[in-house]
Amino acid sequence: MVDTSDAWIQERTGIKERRIAAEGERTSDLALHAARAALSAAKLPAESIDLIVLATATPDLTFPATATRVQAGLGIESGAAFDIQAVCSGFIYALAMADNMLVRGQAQTALVIGAETFSRILDWTDRGTCVLFGDGAGALVLQAQESAPGAPERGVMSTYLRSDGRLHDLLYVDGGPSQTQTVGHLRMQGNAVFRQAVNHISDAIRQAAARAEIAVEEIDWFVPHQANQRILDAVASRLGIPLERMVSTVALHGNTSAASIPLALNTAVEDGRIQPGQLVLMEALGGGMTWGAALARW
Ligand code: ACO
Repeated sequence: MVDTSDAWIQERTGIKERRIAAEGERTSDLALHAARAALSAAKLPAESIDLIVLATATPDLTFPATATRVQAGLGIESGAAFDIQAVCSGFIYALAMADNMLVRGQAQTALVIGAETFSRILDWTDRGTCVLFGDGAGALVLQAQESAPGAPERGVMSTYLRSDGRLHDLLYVDGGPSQTQTVGHLRMQGNAVFRQAVNHISDAIRQAAARAEIAVEEIDWFVPHQANQRILDAVASRLGIPLERMVSTVALHGNTSAASIPLALNTAVEDGRIQPGQLVLMEALGGGMTWGAALARW
């Protein structure tokens, strides 16, 4: 469709494969698969969920929230479900929102989901963007629990969220219900986004670590938003993080926006890298611009 090559894509982005949702398959369908897998891993029934926070920039419909479809799909009849829109940073925002609600006692057990069908908003004639993004979903169960006496606190330890609306033009979709009454296509100034990403992500990692009074060197695993291998490499080099502690799955699914952190988490948990008690730092940057980081003890 465009003048590009597998060699160019692999060299500039690290992406080797990606997934595209089937015709008729919606973001809520992907989210439901992820939600069921997370509940099964947590050994919890769907009825125990009283909060669903779903991060997406590609909802099934303008409204209602895709999260409410997942809630119905799981047969849940109580609690609350809503979407978060922070594009590629969505999962960090959703995690922060759910954590705050659990700490405040507004819910007991939350499903935090990142789900996207970015293939639906790509301009397949723009080689600067159409080679980068894929579809996917991942989910995490978060539960309010008292720490065992003397044991280190588990779960989310700190979050750091930022946005700067002046950077709107670097990454946006040129359509929407209020402005154009269309869905629109993704537009991006790739080079400028790259520079912003390395600066802000490095800062967000430092901030989230400082808020939890943890040194960056103590962190066991870095699970970044999977945008581009070169961004991961540049952040690792700037902060002196050994690359083997940076979980990278971008080769397998490309940039899946809000879904990429839970997809990467799942990979590193399933292959045994992330172990209970370890410190896990998640970070992302996306359209808005928005960015942020979250530090958790697994
Ligand atoms: N195939 C072949 N050539 C291409 C392609 C392509 N798919 N895309 C661009 N090019 C060409 C350009 O036209 C340009 O050619 P020219 O020199 O003749 O004009 C040349 O390659 C170099 O272009 P650059 O934009 O400088 O390429 P760069 O090395 O910066 O890579 C990329 C582009 C991959 C988009 C990079 O800038 C990037 O990854 N930026 C970060 C953007 C990102 O990840 N966004 C995701 C959303 S935000 C987030 O998730 C963090």
